[in-house]
Amino acid sequence: MPEKLEDLEIQLLLEALYQRYHYDFRNYAQASIKRRLKQAREQLGFRNFSALQENLLHDPAMLPRLLSYLTVQVSELFRDPSYFRAIREKVVPHLRTYPSLKIWITGCSNGEELYSFVILFREEGLEQRTLFYATDINQDALAKAEAGIYDLDRMQLFTENHRNSGGKSSLSDYYSAAYGKASFDKSLRGRVVFSDHSLVTDAVFAEMHLISCRNVLIYFDRALQERALGLFKESLARKGFLGLGSKESMRFSDYAGSFTDCVRDEKIYQKWAN
Ligand SMILES: C[S@@+](CC[C@H](N)C(=O)[O-])C[C@H]1O[C@@H](n2cnc3c(N)ncnc32)[C@H](O)[C@@H]1O
Repeated sequence: MPEKLEDLEIQLLLEALYQRYHYDFRNYAQASIKRRLKQAREQLGFRNFSALQENLLHDPAMLPRLLSYLTVQVSELFRDPSYFRAIREKVVPHLRTYPSLKIWITGCSNGEELYSFVILFREEGLEQRTLFYATDINQDALAKAEAGIYDLDRMQLFTENHRNSGGKSSLSDYYSAAYGKASFDKSLRGRVVFSDHSLVTDAVFAEMHLISCRNVLIYFDRALQERALGLFKESLARKGFLGLGSKESMRFSDYAGSFTDCVRDEKIYQKWAN
């Protein structure tokens, strides 16, 4: 099939996904979305993208299957421990000065980043004054985040990450193990709101003190990244913090002027202007 015809089919498929189900991948970074769609088409057994599109339009059961290819659910507890160490050492001292806190973990995937924050906040004595918002576009991932159950064999890595992040307790205090699974304590979810929210199509949250959005913007094109950064700026309280993690940056954004570096290497910023 000529490359251009395939590109047109992909464009139409993404348009169909948007028009029919309101999932908007039209402005995700092209190379990676194309690669993922090709993998989906092959593994789901469609001869071309038009056939996949027809199926998607008529069978809603295809939606979660396709989304599982289009969204990447790779994460870890205390992923990039130096990021959490920086949050603990450089951000927490500021957060301590507030009587109540709201933090937003966007693109929370299966919940690993969320549990990392709740545990860190518990260790720092901030959990009880904090409301945690955990959002994603993938419903299956959100359900897994809410369940908080992970394969037990991942706990060794998570434990090492936690320790390297400056963890003050033992990770095993927070989960119980049975039948090859680690089930995180439900008290960790007591102050968490889980919600379906897209950085592409949905609106701002109000007055957040910290937003963590890591390994999500890399999938967007420049214009979408800019939209998301605008959303973060609007959602943050004055002097609120934005953590993008080492792979993403504010550097070329029109919003860069509204933020100062808090921890440069970890791409943790503080909003200083409205
Ligand atoms: C690679 S995971 C990142 C998980 C976690 N933040 C981390 O760094 O380990 C990317 C997540 O972004 C989510 N995502 C993709 N597009 C999104 C959008 N438009 N709005 C919100 N989340 C999105 C995916 O469903 C996936 O759960």
